[in-house]
Amino acid sequence: MKEKRKRSIFNSHLDLARLYWDKVLQKRDWAIDATCGNGHDTLFLASKCEGVIGLDIQERALQKTRELLETSGVEKGKVLLYHQSHESFPDRDKPIRLIIYNLGYLPGGDKEITTRVHSTLKSLENALELILPQGIVSITCYPGHPEGALEESALLRFSESLSPQQWSVSFHSWKNRCQAPSLLIIQKN
Ligand SMILES: C[S@@+](CC[C@H](N)C(=O)[O-])C[C@H]1O[C@@H](n2cnc3c(N)ncnc32)[C@H](O)[C@@H]1O
Repeated sequence: MKEKRKRSIFNSHLDLARLYWDKVLQKRDWAIDATCGNGHDTLFLASKCEGVIGLDIQERALQKTRELLETSGVEKGKVLLYHQSHESFPDRDKPIRLIIYNLGYLPGGDKEITTRVHSTLKSLENALELILPQGIVSITCYPGHPEGALEESALLRFSESLSPQQWSVSFHSWKNRCQAPSLLIIQKN
């Protein structure tokens, strides 16, 4: 069973996203987790690069992230956590090679506190300004709920308008999994 899971490329959108993150990140790079949530992605990033900047608008999410990092033995100072919206980014002097978003609401939390189209788009514009050449912005969308569906279509419209000389854009969706999460990847050429 374990072997079957290891070989399957269809476990989850997250496995796919992590393949891209792993490919692009090098030890000296920094990454931003623009939606920390319970901290699982932040923890993954911390194992792959020099440092991570993590943002969330909920203190509860940051607390969960802090606890996970601590129990996982991540060295102090490697992850800088900020209680703020991702509409703007702190520490803009860091060499940022990867910015990730896992949109939506905190699993097990208040579903009304979710990412929103307007602030997500604003954040993405800032992310594209910040990212280093060959760096990527990775966005997991959740079209299975109403705000998530709006976000996905607005992000697709925006990303389709990006210059192909400057950006490579790809989009992954599961065609026979109704309402499954999708993955948008934007790489700076
Ligand atoms: C789906 S969860 C992220 C899951 C997380 N990546 C993990 O590994 O557990 C989405 C998170 O985005 C946060 N969020 C919503 N709007 C935000 C904003 N404008 N800026 C930063 N975080 C936001 C929510 O509070 C929630 O914790």
